Amino acid sequence: MTELKKIGVVGAGQMGNGIAHVCALAGYTVVLNDISEPALEKARETVEKNMQRQLSKEFISLDEMTSALDRMTFTTDLSEFGDVDLAVEAATEKEPIKVDIFAKLLQNVSPDAYLASNTSSISITRLASTTDRPERFIGLHFMNPVPVMQLIEVIRGLATDQATYEMALTLAERLNKTVANAEDFPAFIVNRVLMPMINEAVYTLYEGVGTVEGIDTAMKLGANHPMGPLQLADFIGLDTCLSIMQVLHDGLADTKYRPCPLLVKYVEAGWLGRKVGRGFYDYRGDAPIPTR
Ligand code: CAA
Repeated sequence: MTELKKIGVVGAGQMGNGIAHVCALAGYTVVLNDISEPALEKARETVEKNMQRQLSKEFISLDEMTSALDRMTFTTDLSEFGDVDLAVEAATEKEPIKVDIFAKLLQNVSPDAYLASNTSSISITRLASTTDRPERFIGLHFMNPVPVMQLIEVIRGLATDQATYEMALTLAERLNKTVANAEDFPAFIVNRVLMPMINEAVYTLYEGVGTVEGIDTAMKLGANHPMGPLQLADFIGLDTCLSIMQVLHDGLADTKYRPCPLLVKYVEAGWLGRKVGRGFYDYRGDAPIPTR
Protein backbone atom coordinates (compact mmCIF):
# COMPACT_ATOMS: atom_id res chain seq x y z
CA MET A 1 0.00 0.00 0.00
CA THR A 2 1.33 3.45 -0.93
CA GLU A 3 1.79 5.63 2.15
CA LEU A 4 -0.14 8.85 1.63
CA LYS A 5 1.86 12.08 1.75
CA LYS A 6 0.01 14.43 -0.55
CA ILE A 7 -3.75 14.59 -1.00
CA GLY A 8 -5.58 16.47 -3.76
CA VAL A 9 -9.16 17.58 -3.25
CA VAL A 10 -11.37 18.66 -6.16
CA GLY A 11 -14.19 21.06 -5.29
CA ALA A 12 -13.73 23.92 -2.82
CA GLY A 13 -17.32 23.99 -1.53
CA GLN A 14 -18.36 23.23 2.04
CA MET A 15 -17.28 19.56 1.85
CA GLY A 16 -14.07 20.08 -0.13
CA ASN A 17 -12.73 22.83 2.11
CA GLY A 18 -13.54 20.76 5.19
CA ILE A 19 -11.77 17.68 3.81
CA ALA A 20 -8.73 19.79 2.87
CA HIS A 21 -8.79 21.37 6.35
CA VAL A 22 -8.72 18.08 8.29
CA CYS A 23 -6.13 16.49 5.97
CA ALA A 24 -3.77 19.46 6.34
CA LEU A 25 -4.17 19.44 10.13
CA ALA A 26 -3.35 15.71 10.16
CA GLY A 27 -0.01 16.47 8.50
CA TYR A 28 -0.72 15.74 4.84
CA THR A 29 0.33 18.13 2.10
CA VAL A 30 -2.92 19.25 0.49
CA VAL A 31 -3.81 20.80 -2.84
CA LEU A 32 -7.36 22.09 -3.18
CA ASN A 33 -8.69 22.59 -6.70
CA ASP A 34 -11.75 24.34 -8.07
CA ILE A 35 -12.67 25.78 -11.46
CA SER A 36 -13.53 29.08 -9.78
CA GLU A 37 -10.91 31.47 -8.34
CA PRO A 38 -13.49 33.19 -6.08
CA ALA A 39 -14.57 29.77 -4.74
CA LEU A 40 -10.93 29.02 -3.88
CA GLU A 41 -10.51 32.39 -2.19
CA LYS A 42 -13.69 31.78 -0.17
CA ALA A 43 -12.44 28.28 0.74
CA ARG A 44 -9.15 29.70 2.01
CA GLU A 45 -11.04 32.18 4.21
CA THR A 46 -13.38 29.44 5.48
CA VAL A 47 -10.50 27.12 6.40
CA GLU A 48 -8.73 29.95 8.23
CA LYS A 49 -11.91 30.95 10.06
CA ASN A 50 -12.67 27.35 11.09
CA MET A 51 -9.10 26.71 12.23
CA GLN A 52 -9.30 29.95 14.19
CA ARG A 53 -12.40 28.55 15.95
CA GLN A 54 -10.48 25.39 16.81
CA LEU A 55 -7.56 27.51 18.02
CA SER A 56 -9.76 29.66 20.24
CA LYS A 57 -11.22 26.45 21.78
CA GLU A 58 -7.62 25.20 22.26
CA PHE A 59 -8.30 22.09 20.15
CA ILE A 60 -5.22 23.04 18.10
CA SER A 61 -2.17 25.20 18.78
CA LEU A 62 -1.12 28.26 16.78
CA ASP A 63 1.85 26.29 15.52
CA GLU A 64 -0.40 23.44 14.28
CA MET A 65 -2.64 25.97 12.56
CA THR A 66 0.18 27.83 10.79
CA SER A 67 1.94 24.69 9.67
CA ALA A 68 -1.35 23.20 8.39
CA LEU A 69 -2.04 26.37 6.40
CA ASP A 70 1.52 26.25 5.04
CA ARG A 71 0.89 22.71 3.80
CA MET A 72 -2.13 23.84 1.75
CA THR A 73 -2.22 25.20 -1.78
CA PHE A 74 -5.28 26.44 -3.62
CA THR A 75 -5.30 26.19 -7.40
CA THR A 76 -7.46 26.12 -10.50
CA ASP A 77 -4.74 24.10 -12.24
CA LEU A 78 -5.15 20.31 -12.08
CA SER A 79 -1.59 19.78 -13.27
CA GLU A 80 -0.60 20.35 -9.62
CA PHE A 81 -2.13 16.91 -8.93
CA GLY A 82 0.79 15.13 -10.67
CA ASP A 83 2.34 13.97 -7.39
CA VAL A 84 -0.76 13.38 -5.24
CA ASP A 85 -1.09 9.91 -3.71
CA LEU A 86 -4.84 10.28 -3.34
CA ALA A 87 -7.32 12.52 -5.18
CA VAL A 88 -10.68 13.08 -3.49
CA GLU A 89 -13.52 14.42 -5.60
CA ALA A 90 -15.92 16.61 -3.60
CA ALA A 91 -17.86 18.42 -6.31
CA THR A 92 -21.59 18.99 -6.81
CA GLU A 93 -23.79 15.92 -6.33
CA LYS A 94 -24.39 15.46 -10.07
CA GLU A 95 -23.10 12.32 -11.75
CA PRO A 96 -22.08 13.87 -15.13
CA ILE A 97 -20.02 16.53 -13.29
CA LYS A 98 -18.25 13.88 -11.23
CA VAL A 99 -17.58 11.67 -14.27
CA ASP A 100 -16.12 14.67 -16.10
CA ILE A 101 -13.87 15.52 -13.13
CA PHE A 102 -12.51 11.96 -12.96
CA ALA A 103 -11.79 12.08 -16.71
CA LYS A 104 -9.81 15.30 -16.21
CA LEU A 105 -8.10 13.94 -13.10
CA LEU A 106 -6.87 10.90 -15.04
CA GLN A 107 -4.99 13.20 -17.41
CA ASN A 108 -3.10 14.67 -14.45
CA VAL A 109 -2.59 12.13 -11.65
CA SER A 110 0.11 9.45 -11.59
CA PRO A 111 -0.88 5.90 -12.57
CA ASP A 112 -0.47 4.81 -8.92
CA ALA A 113 -2.70 7.44 -7.34
CA TYR A 114 -5.78 6.32 -5.45
CA LEU A 115 -9.08 7.94 -6.41
CA ALA A 116 -11.96 8.63 -4.04
CA SER A 117 -15.34 10.27 -4.26
CA ASN A 118 -17.08 12.08 -1.43
CA THR A 119 -20.40 11.38 -3.13
CA SER A 120 -23.26 11.16 -0.67
CA SER A 121 -25.42 8.88 -2.81
CA ILE A 122 -24.08 7.97 -6.27
CA SER A 123 -22.84 4.43 -7.05
CA ILE A 124 -19.12 4.05 -6.38
CA THR A 125 -19.03 1.02 -8.70
CA ARG A 126 -20.47 3.10 -11.55
CA LEU A 127 -18.15 6.08 -10.96
CA ALA A 128 -15.14 3.73 -10.65
CA SER A 129 -16.03 2.00 -13.91
CA THR A 130 -15.53 5.27 -15.80
CA THR A 131 -11.86 5.35 -14.71
CA ASP A 132 -8.82 3.24 -15.62
CA ARG A 133 -8.43 1.98 -12.01
CA PRO A 134 -11.69 0.77 -10.45
CA GLU A 135 -9.62 -1.35 -8.01
CA ARG A 136 -7.95 1.81 -6.62
CA PHE A 137 -11.23 3.73 -6.35
CA ILE A 138 -13.29 4.08 -3.14
CA GLY A 139 -16.09 6.11 -1.56
CA LEU A 140 -15.03 8.36 1.33
CA HIS A 141 -18.14 10.10 2.53
CA PHE A 142 -17.35 12.84 5.04
CA MET A 143 -20.06 14.62 7.05
CA ASN A 144 -20.65 18.34 7.29
CA PRO A 145 -19.06 20.21 9.10
CA VAL A 146 -16.06 17.97 8.41
CA PRO A 147 -13.82 19.33 11.22
CA VAL A 148 -16.54 18.55 13.78
CA MET A 149 -18.29 15.37 12.63
CA GLN A 150 -16.72 12.11 13.74
CA LEU A 151 -17.84 9.85 10.90
CA ILE A 152 -16.45 8.80 7.55
CA GLU A 153 -18.66 6.38 5.63
CA VAL A 154 -16.38 4.09 3.61
CA ILE A 155 -17.92 2.52 0.53
CA ARG A 156 -16.16 -0.15 -1.50
CA GLY A 157 -17.20 -0.51 -5.13
CA LEU A 158 -17.46 -3.98 -6.64
CA ALA A 159 -13.84 -3.80 -7.85
CA THR A 160 -12.22 -1.90 -4.94
CA ASP A 161 -9.20 -3.90 -3.74
CA GLN A 162 -8.11 -4.61 -0.17
CA ALA A 163 -5.10 -2.24 -0.31
CA THR A 164 -7.37 0.67 -1.26
CA TYR A 165 -9.76 -0.19 1.57
CA GLU A 166 -6.85 -0.34 4.01
CA MET A 167 -5.59 3.03 2.73
CA ALA A 168 -9.04 4.45 3.61
CA LEU A 169 -8.94 2.94 7.12
CA THR A 170 -5.42 4.30 7.72
CA LEU A 171 -6.46 7.74 6.51
CA ALA A 172 -9.55 7.76 8.74
CA GLU A 173 -7.45 6.77 11.75
CA ARG A 174 -4.92 9.53 11.06
CA LEU A 175 -7.81 12.03 10.74
CA ASN A 176 -9.09 10.79 14.10
CA LYS A 177 -12.43 9.80 12.58
CA THR A 178 -14.56 6.69 12.98
CA VAL A 179 -15.46 4.54 9.98
CA ALA A 180 -18.85 3.06 9.17
CA ASN A 181 -18.66 0.57 6.31
CA ALA A 182 -21.52 0.85 3.88
CA GLU A 183 -22.36 -1.36 0.92
CA ASP A 184 -22.57 0.35 -2.44
CA PHE A 185 -26.34 0.89 -2.73
CA PRO A 186 -28.09 4.22 -3.33
CA ALA A 187 -27.26 6.84 -0.66
CA PHE A 188 -25.39 4.25 1.47
CA ILE A 189 -26.33 4.37 5.20
CA VAL A 190 -26.43 7.96 6.43
CA ASN A 191 -28.43 9.46 3.61
CA ARG A 192 -30.65 6.38 3.17
CA VAL A 193 -31.92 7.16 6.65
CA LEU A 194 -31.43 10.94 6.94
CA MET A 195 -32.83 12.16 3.59
CA PRO A 196 -36.22 10.45 3.78
CA MET A 197 -36.56 12.07 7.22
CA ILE A 198 -35.73 15.51 5.80
CA ASN A 199 -38.02 14.90 2.81
CA GLU A 200 -40.80 13.87 5.21
CA ALA A 201 -40.24 17.08 7.18
CA VAL A 202 -40.75 19.02 3.93
CA TYR A 203 -43.97 17.03 3.30
CA THR A 204 -45.06 17.89 6.84
CA LEU A 205 -44.59 21.56 5.94
CA TYR A 206 -46.21 21.13 2.47
CA GLU A 207 -49.30 19.52 3.99
CA GLY A 208 -49.56 22.21 6.67
CA VAL A 209 -49.06 19.83 9.59
CA GLY A 210 -46.57 22.28 11.08
CA THR A 211 -44.76 25.53 10.33
CA VAL A 212 -41.02 25.72 9.62
CA GLU A 213 -40.34 26.69 13.20
CA GLY A 214 -42.86 24.20 14.61
CA ILE A 215 -41.31 21.28 12.74
CA ASP A 216 -37.75 22.23 13.70
CA THR A 217 -38.63 22.88 17.35
CA ALA A 218 -40.52 19.57 17.50
CA MET A 219 -37.55 17.56 16.27
CA LYS A 220 -34.93 19.50 18.25
CA LEU A 221 -36.72 19.28 21.57
CA GLY A 222 -38.78 16.16 20.90
CA ALA A 223 -36.08 13.95 19.41
CA ASN A 224 -32.96 15.71 20.71
CA HIS A 225 -31.59 16.45 17.25
CA PRO A 226 -28.94 19.22 17.29
CA MET A 227 -30.67 20.92 14.37
CA GLY A 228 -34.27 20.69 13.17
CA PRO A 229 -34.70 18.84 9.84
CA LEU A 230 -35.47 22.01 7.82
CA GLN A 231 -32.55 23.88 9.39
CA LEU A 232 -30.37 20.85 8.59
CA ALA A 233 -31.68 20.75 5.00
CA ASP A 234 -30.67 24.41 4.59
CA PHE A 235 -27.27 23.59 6.11
CA ILE A 236 -26.67 20.65 3.73
CA GLY A 237 -28.08 22.52 0.70
CA LEU A 238 -31.55 21.89 -0.73
CA ASP A 239 -30.07 21.04 -4.16
CA THR A 240 -27.98 18.30 -2.55
CA CYS A 241 -31.01 17.01 -0.61
CA LEU A 242 -33.06 16.88 -3.82
CA SER A 243 -30.27 15.15 -5.76
CA ILE A 244 -30.00 12.48 -3.07
CA MET A 245 -33.77 11.88 -3.03
CA GLN A 246 -33.65 11.53 -6.82
CA VAL A 247 -30.86 8.95 -6.55
CA LEU A 248 -32.92 7.00 -3.97
CA HIS A 249 -36.07 7.26 -6.08
CA ASP A 250 -34.37 6.23 -9.32
CA GLY A 251 -32.06 3.63 -7.79
CA LEU A 252 -34.58 1.85 -5.57
CA ALA A 253 -37.68 2.52 -7.72
CA ASP A 254 -39.91 2.87 -4.68
CA THR A 255 -42.49 5.68 -4.48
CA LYS A 256 -41.71 6.15 -0.78
CA TYR A 257 -38.62 8.08 -1.93
CA ARG A 258 -40.47 10.58 -4.17
CA PRO A 259 -39.06 14.07 -3.59
CA CYS A 260 -41.58 16.46 -2.03
CA PRO A 261 -42.83 18.97 -4.66
CA LEU A 262 -42.13 21.78 -2.20
CA LEU A 263 -38.45 20.77 -2.03
CA VAL A 264 -38.37 20.80 -5.85
CA LYS A 265 -39.95 24.29 -5.85
CA TYR A 266 -37.36 25.72 -3.46
CA VAL A 267 -34.55 24.33 -5.61
CA GLU A 268 -36.16 25.69 -8.78
CA ALA A 269 -36.37 29.11 -7.13
CA GLY A 270 -32.65 28.95 -6.34
CA TRP A 271 -33.46 29.07 -2.61
CA LEU A 272 -30.84 26.44 -1.88
CA GLY A 273 -30.30 27.11 1.82
CA ARG A 274 -27.60 28.75 3.86
CA LYS A 275 -24.98 28.88 1.10
CA VAL A 276 -27.12 31.32 -0.94
CA GLY A 277 -28.63 33.14 2.05
CA ARG A 278 -32.15 31.72 1.68
CA GLY A 279 -33.93 28.37 1.95
CA PHE A 280 -36.53 27.34 4.49
CA TYR A 281 -35.08 30.26 6.43
CA ASP A 282 -33.88 33.66 5.22
CA TYR A 283 -30.35 34.21 6.55
CA ARG A 284 -29.79 37.67 5.13
CA GLY A 285 -30.74 39.55 8.30
CA ASP A 286 -29.39 39.33 11.84
CA ALA A 287 -31.36 36.21 12.76
CA PRO A 288 -32.82 33.52 10.45
CA ILE A 289 -36.49 34.12 9.55
CA PRO A 290 -38.71 31.27 8.27
CA THR A 291 -39.67 31.74 4.61
CA ARG A 292 -43.09 30.06 5.08
N1 CAA B 1 -15.13 23.95 11.77
C1 CAA B 1 -14.59 23.83 12.99
N2 CAA B 1 -15.31 23.84 14.12
C2 CAA B 1 -16.64 24.03 14.00
C3 CAA B 1 -17.27 24.17 12.75
C4 CAA B 1 -16.46 24.12 11.61
N3 CAA B 1 -16.98 24.23 10.37
N4 CAA B 1 -18.61 24.32 12.95
C5 CAA B 1 -18.80 24.26 14.28
N5 CAA B 1 -17.61 24.08 14.91
C6 CAA B 1 -17.40 23.86 16.33
C7 CAA B 1 -17.65 25.07 17.15
O1 CAA B 1 -16.47 25.81 17.31
C8 CAA B 1 -18.15 24.48 18.46
O2 CAA B 1 -17.10 24.02 19.28
P1 CAA B 1 -17.38 23.74 20.87
O3 CAA B 1 -18.32 22.58 20.96
O4 CAA B 1 -16.04 23.41 21.40
O5 CAA B 1 -17.96 24.99 21.41
C9 CAA B 1 -18.90 23.25 18.03
O6 CAA B 1 -18.41 22.91 16.73
C10 CAA B 1 -20.35 23.52 18.00
O7 CAA B 1 -20.59 24.65 17.16
P2 CAA B 1 -21.47 25.92 17.55
O8 CAA B 1 -21.41 26.16 19.02
O9 CAA B 1 -21.14 27.01 16.61
O10 CAA B 1 -22.90 25.53 17.12
P3 CAA B 1 -23.78 24.30 17.53
O11 CAA B 1 -23.60 23.89 18.93
O12 CAA B 1 -25.12 24.69 17.03
O13 CAA B 1 -23.21 23.10 16.62
C11 CAA B 1 -23.15 21.83 14.68
C12 CAA B 1 -23.09 23.22 15.26
C13 CAA B 1 -21.92 21.03 15.10
C14 CAA B 1 -23.16 21.98 13.17
C15 CAA B 1 -24.43 21.12 15.24
O14 CAA B 1 -25.55 21.94 15.04
C16 CAA B 1 -24.71 19.79 14.59
O15 CAA B 1 -24.13 18.76 14.94
N6 CAA B 1 -25.63 19.78 13.59
C17 CAA B 1 -25.96 18.60 12.85
C18 CAA B 1 -24.95 18.42 11.76
C19 CAA B 1 -25.23 17.21 10.94
O16 CAA B 1 -26.20 16.48 11.11
N7 CAA B 1 -24.36 16.98 9.98
C20 CAA B 1 -24.50 15.89 9.06
C21 CAA B 1 -25.18 16.42 7.86
S1 CAA B 1 -25.46 15.12 6.74
C22 CAA B 1 -24.06 15.05 5.87
O17 CAA B 1 -23.14 15.78 5.99
C23 CAA B 1 -24.08 13.97 4.89
C24 CAA B 1 -24.58 14.34 3.57
O18 CAA B 1 -24.11 13.73 2.63
C25 CAA B 1 -25.66 15.28 3.30
